[in-house]
Amino acid sequence: VGLLKLNTLSVSATAKYYMDVESLDDLRSALAWARENGHQTLVLGSGSNLVFAGDFNGLVIRVRIAARYWEQVDDTGATLVLGAGESWHEAVLYAAGSGYKGIENLALIPGTAGAAPVQNIGAYGVELCDTLISVTAWDRDSDQLVCLDNAECGFAYRDSLFKRSPGRYIITEIRLRLSRTKPLKLGYRDLEEYFGDATSQDLDALTVAEAVMAVRRRKLPDPEMIPNVGSFFKNPVVPAGKFEELQAMYPDVVGYPQAETVKLAAAWLIDQCGWKGFRNATVGVHNRQALVLINHSGGTGKDVLDLASEIRESVRERFGVALEMEPGIVGG
Ligand code: EPU
Repeated sequence: VGLLKLNTLSVSATAKYYMDVESLDDLRSALAWARENGHQTLVLGSGSNLVFAGDFNGLVIRVRIAARYWEQVDDTGATLVLGAGESWHEAVLYAAGSGYKGIENLALIPGTAGAAPVQNIGAYGVELCDTLISVTAWDRDSDQLVCLDNAECGFAYRDSLFKRSPGRYIITEIRLRLSRTKPLKLGYRDLEEYFGDATSQDLDALTVAEAVMAVRRRKLPDPEMIPNVGSFFKNPVVPAGKFEELQAMYPDVVGYPQAETVKLAAAWLIDQCGWKGFRNATVGVHNRQALVLINHSGGTGKDVLDLASEIRESVRERFGVALEMEPGIVGG
């Protein structure tokens, strides 16, 4: 089975077997079949955060569980329930269009609702964990459906229990608490620039979602047109002392101070090493966002990973900072 259309990096790779699952029953049958036949499994949503380094010699399961409804509606807000196969961006537009706030800053992030908790998607000052109430998942260790609350999901920046225990949980549904009353989050620089003096009272969730879409379209390539998996590296978190050292040498270095650490802008580090707009025969670095690697003409996963290694090496040499890859690597 060809996987070209099942990964937004458009890498051509194959899987030995492939199944779409639309319900928990389908999922259980697929897992049972793989177990009986001794096949490895790989579960994916829309393949927007993974790199096929080679072929996958097992069963690829695509989760397409559909569901979208409200629970616990009251004057302050409502809980949005999403099946794992729902498009994340469609869900954002639906929630914002219904007047509920909380996920509008996460508009236009590719992928499914079920994949969103895995890397705790985040953008423009908001992370999924800010609104997530619980995740329902099939636990392959205990062979049962479990419901994990926000704390149990162990969220951190681009990280979660699901990411730390690969293959164990298959997310089937998520619940988000959205608000009618909380203020909109407009503090990220790009949004401040977009809205000027407007405040939360002057705007609604849909207007913010539209602003985020406009900002993203300006900077980030649409995977439908230019294959990519979004940010290829995490923004590295370094001790405050390391940041001061860097600042002494590079006064323009971009970092966001946290408690005792600073989150550096990986895009800035990569940009300074001269990578922005770089192209070789098959792959390259986006010309408006140095953190995004692109596959411009039939590159393989290996081509992308080789470029990523070169970038990591140059950033390490120049700044003494290690970049960690953000997407998952499969096969090869
Ligand atoms: N910058 C450069 N060169 C560039 C791009 C950016 O020097 O080519 C500098 C900018 O001047 C800016 C800083 O780097 O001050 C940060 O750039 P940006 O605001 O674009 O955000 P980012 O830190 O590069 C993160 C997320 C994005 C998310 C944006 C907006 C990670 C790994 N990435 O990028 O998420 O959309 O913030 O919140 O945290 C993704 O994960 O796939 C993704 C796109």
